[in-house]
Amino acid sequence: MSQKIFEKKDVRKLYLDDQGNVDYTKIQARWEEFKKNKVSLANKHFTQQVVEKAKTLSQEDQQRLLDIMIEGLTYNDSSVGIAATRPEDYDLFLFYLEPLIREYHKIEGQTKQEHDWNIPVGEYVLTNIDPKLEKVSMRARVARNVVGYSLPSSMDKDERIKFENQMVEVFEKFGFPGKYHSLTPGHKNFISDQEADVLRNKHFLFINMTHDNCLMSNGVASDWPYGRGIWISEDETKMVWVGEEDHLRIISIVQGNDLGKVDQSLNELLTGIEKSGLKFAEHPTYGIITTCPTNMGTGKRQSILGKFPNITKGGKDEANLKDIAKSLGLQARGIGGEHSNMDSEGTADISPSARFGVTEAIVTKRLYEGLIKLYEIERNETNEKKRQNCCNTF
Ligand code: ARG
Repeated sequence: MSQKIFEKKDVRKLYLDDQGNVDYTKIQARWEEFKKNKVSLANKHFTQQVVEKAKTLSQEDQQRLLDIMIEGLTYNDSSVGIAATRPEDYDLFLFYLEPLIREYHKIEGQTKQEHDWNIPVGEYVLTNIDPKLEKVSMRARVARNVVGYSLPSSMDKDERIKFENQMVEVFEKFGFPGKYHSLTPGHKNFISDQEADVLRNKHFLFINMTHDNCLMSNGVASDWPYGRGIWISEDETKMVWVGEEDHLRIISIVQGNDLGKVDQSLNELLTGIEKSGLKFAEHPTYGIITTCPTNMGTGKRQSILGKFPNITKGGKDEANLKDIAKSLGLQARGIGGEHSNMDSEGTADISPSARFGVTEAIVTKRLYEGLIKLYEIERNETNEKKRQNCCNTF
């Protein structure tokens, strides 16, 4: 079902009066209307107490609070509905965001995000799980945002272009052989739509963001395609997305069977970028600052593309794989990532769901341990099928 796509600048006007004051009665009425369907976290945590506190802020900050939850106010199918506008939102608006972050990440008691990139090579070897897993597409990414810039939901066109140019300078100097491809019209590294599609078909480049309701209403897709692009290493194992949901998505894709190798590659790239002098936004408690609170913590997502023809019944029962994965602390997505479909072989992107309260090293360990169980279930379903076939034959 395709819904009409609304833009942030239009939605925002609905909740502001002529003087620019935020209309809380309208906001609360909208939340009440949505409660009949699905209650996003943005909705659930916008309590009367939050409203009272919000009213004590300057008009500008109240407008920012509106911007943060504008996606949730626009679509009744958002689960979270939040996009931060600046790294400082996670301080200034913590009275609203903290309970929401804690609920999403299931955080109890006092806790603080820790980091650990000490990930062994030679230990998480997929062929030990199944000899067939000789050449697997292994991926890992971290989200990062750079201090001193607004987050993508509230950058203006100039800021997007300025940020992209700063990144081009980094790519030219940081020592990895590769090439930057820009979607910005007139950019010296500009690529055409056709060239961009080639990169999308290889699952390197992100989608045209203006087709995504969430990203349009929260402003992340504004000024498309200015300031957007991708850097790809010569051997196509390292990549950096510029100007998607976060300033940077630093990515490594390795074909092979040792999960530690993809981490090694990703860490090299991340360190290389850091050394170029960029300072990434981080919260003392909640870790890496990301546009969407769901990615806070390590900001890391690590996955493999695996085939699960039995569990998915030839790709026809994606829900079965998703449910089983969930019970193992994993997330199953389609081949093209979030909101995409699996194919007839049941090819899915499998990653651990935890982002917060786990270190980078634990993410890898959880993926490996989850895959041991998932492949065991996949194999048992094969045996199950064989048994059924055998009984049918007799
Ligand atoms: N904004 C969407 C929602 O609230 C997606 C959240 C998670 N995905 C993401 N790409 N940040 O439902």
